[in-house]
Amino acid sequence: MSRTPPRRYWLTGASSGIGAALAEEILKTGAHLAVSSRQVAPLKVLSQRYPGQVLVVPGDLTNSQTVREIGQQISEDWGSLDSVILNAGTCEYVDARQFDASIIEHVVRTNLLATSYCIEAALPLLRNGIAPHLIGVASSVTYLPLPRAEAYGASKAGLRYLFESLRIDLADEGIEVTVVSPGFVDTPLTAKNDFPMPLSWPVGKAARHIFARLNERPLEIAFPALFMAALWPLSKLPSRLQLAIGKRMVRKPPPLRDPA
Ligand SMILES: NC(=O)c1ccc[n+]([C@@H]2O[C@H](COP(=O)([O-])OP(=O)(O)OC[C@H]3O[C@@H](n4cnc5c(N)ncnc54)[C@H](OP(=O)(O)O)[C@@H]3O)[C@@H](O)[C@H]2O)c1
Repeated sequence: MSRTPPRRYWLTGASSGIGAALAEEILKTGAHLAVSSRQVAPLKVLSQRYPGQVLVVPGDLTNSQTVREIGQQISEDWGSLDSVILNAGTCEYVDARQFDASIIEHVVRTNLLATSYCIEAALPLLRNGIAPHLIGVASSVTYLPLPRAEAYGASKAGLRYLFESLRIDLADEGIEVTVVSPGFVDTPLTAKNDFPMPLSWPVGKAARHIFARLNERPLEIAFPALFMAALWPLSKLPSRLQLAIGKRMVRKPPPLRDPA
């Protein structure tokens, strides 16, 4: 009797936060998982804990050549991928009083360009996969313009459009595309936030929710439901009202120091 082969995943940003918790959920099912991030040690720990299931393919995903090599490595070892979860990302806030375009550059490079390098590497492998599924982790930030989120919001809005457009173009090939839009999740990334994070979820709960929903192949996984219920109507308001809401969220910054 032939057994179904284990599903093959590639997950980026597996060293920490949502990615690390998702890796656990995936590996617990017996699936095979290729894991990427710059830090190698957490990936090696995963491969020791789940022997024979983990392919460690580390690297800085903002380097397109590195990503190509990761794709080649996965191709040599496995020849195909069934699911690709592009989760690696970063967040930096902008101070408009001292607007620094290098912040935009760095955040867009990590969240949008690196993700597109990963898509380029992943698509040929997904085309050989079984019931192929491409998943991108965006953010609920794209629902409403928020103060200081110029870089992060722009990168995630771009990422959302990239995936939604790609979904149309990949439909004929049977590659399904899901966008994940988390609200706040407690991770090392959000531990740096100096503002309240309403309805924030623990990372394990977020990972379990995402993984459970992936089976249904939804176009979008947005959570927590209560947070989205509040955010969704705001996203439909006229721009003037959205501006008024955004202005109310601005906290008084400390006065700029006189450099003299
Ligand atoms: N936490 C939230 O509330 C929240 C809300 C909405 C969306 N998100 C999104 O969810 C995703 C995961 O975030 P998180 O909160 O789990 O953050 P996190 O704990 O900081 O994890 C980010 C992951 O991305 C990897 N990464 C970052 N830059 C990379 C690069 N240049 N090359 C390779 N890997 C890189 C990091 O690994 P290394 O540092 O080892 O490279 C790490 O594994 C992000 O896309 C984030 O924007 C999070």
